[in-house]
Amino acid sequence: MTADGPASAPAELPAHDQGLWITFEGGDGSGKTTQAALLEEWLRGQGRTVVRTREPGGTEVGVLIRDIVLHHRGDIAPRAEALLYAADRAHHVATLVQPALARGEIVIQDRYLDSSVAYQGAGRVLDADEIRDLSLWAADGALPRLTVLLDIDPAAARHRLDADDKPFDRLEAERSDFHARVRAAYLALAAAEPERFLVLDATRDVGELAAAVRDRVAAVLA
Ligand code: TMP
Repeated sequence: MTADGPASAPAELPAHDQGLWITFEGGDGSGKTTQAALLEEWLRGQGRTVVRTREPGGTEVGVLIRDIVLHHRGDIAPRAEALLYAADRAHHVATLVQPALARGEIVIQDRYLDSSVAYQGAGRVLDADEIRDLSLWAADGALPRLTVLLDIDPAAARHRLDADDKPFDRLEAERSDFHARVRAAYLALAAAEPERFLVLDATRDVGELAAAVRDRVAAVLA
């Protein structure tokens, strides 16, 4: 469960032997929240105990951090932004995720460290390895068993967000080249860790996507 520090390689991290940790990743408007809710519903129907959570904002401290990173008016220096997400992560993993896994529960989480590598690393153009190491240090080396990446062209995602008719937050309001870098970074992360990632085309039918997620989760649980 622990890594020695920022320089530890992910391949050396011990796997979780209790509980099951599943994260959803993807660009803004990719449909993660819908798929996380459908998976939760299915797992509960199977009699499983599920904790559904998110980053940033899965804890009381996290809600405060979420408000800063998403709604602060004016600039936040890229490294400060990276540290805020890492701080949220550190508190969330230590106080909510790890205890739930230790109880043998299933944690379904909207976003984790891959978001930081994609958004702060590629989007803000910070060093991706440093961002990943910072997150691994913050989370004591913890990695999920399965990460579902809902891949979508940022232009298509933008149409969905426009249709929602909600004001854009700081990250959603970034330019299209930012979101293109985020998408490319996600795909590179998935290619580098094919055993952890399930990559799905987010423009597919919601029910079809949910079935594909269920199939993979069932295989992991079997
Ligand atoms: P969401 O919870 O509605 O997906 O919004 C969270 C936003 O924060 C989203 O635009 C992605 C961004 N984000 C980062 O930039 N870095 C991170 O580490 C995380 C978890 C989210």
